[in-house]
Amino acid sequence: MALSELALLRQHLALSFAAECPVTGTSGEKLARLYEIDDVNLEGVRVLDICSGVSDFAEYLRVKKRAVPSAVDIGYKDMARLITRSESQVSPAFLRSIADASGMYVYGQAHSLPFADGIFKYAFSFNGLLGVTDQDHDLAMASLRDAIRVIGVGGVLQVAPYDDQFVPRGYQPHLFEELKRDGNVSVQEVNSRLYIPEAGSIYAVKKAVVTKLH
Ligand SMILES: C[S@@+](CC[C@H](N)C(=O)[O-])C[C@H]1O[C@@H](n2cnc3c(N)ncnc32)[C@H](O)[C@@H]1O
Repeated sequence: MALSELALLRQHLALSFAAECPVTGTSGEKLARLYEIDDVNLEGVRVLDICSGVSDFAEYLRVKKRAVPSAVDIGYKDMARLITRSESQVSPAFLRSIADASGMYVYGQAHSLPFADGIFKYAFSFNGLLGVTDQDHDLAMASLRDAIRVIGVGGVLQVAPYDDQFVPRGYQPHLFEELKRDGNVSVQEVNSRLYIPEAGSIYAVKKAVVTKLH
């Protein structure tokens, strides 16, 4: 298949998965714990949340961590519609930030991110790269590789949930084996936790931590 046909096919897949997938807004505080960044100094550091939905994680990074965040989602083409599709209650922090820091929210597709190479130190994705794009092997690979493209050498991509019990999927181990074969990353599987105070529960969640080596 010609490259341009492949690009079109990916675009088509991305659009159809995005149209069907749930829209959620996991709280920034919970994601910060999942990614274990509470003690990491992110002041002035460029960070990216991929498939960010109506999560206030970018706002958390901007206000609490004084980072320089971007959040990218296919749904930001029509923010009002994305909000109406949300299965989670949309937090006041998210609603405030789309007015106060609207430049943080960037429309884009995960396999073709609208950012230059190597500009972020950290990238994150929860229920996006894994949980949505991984319903198709090629879309997921293209999306993971593009996330690695936009982080600098020494930068880290964290993606979750990795191989968890909630969403059936068969591709994840292969995805990371293929990424390792590319030769420019190391991948660690890390056990972390997602706190759901409303349910009074803490869930074990695995994440993949991908470091760009060169
Ligand atoms: C389940 S929500 C997760 C939102 C957020 N990360 C969270 O933790 O609650 C998945 C989001 O991925 C977005 N999405 C789906 N496919 C995408 C793609 N190929 N590129 C960019 N965004 C995509 C959807 O619009 C949706 O907002």
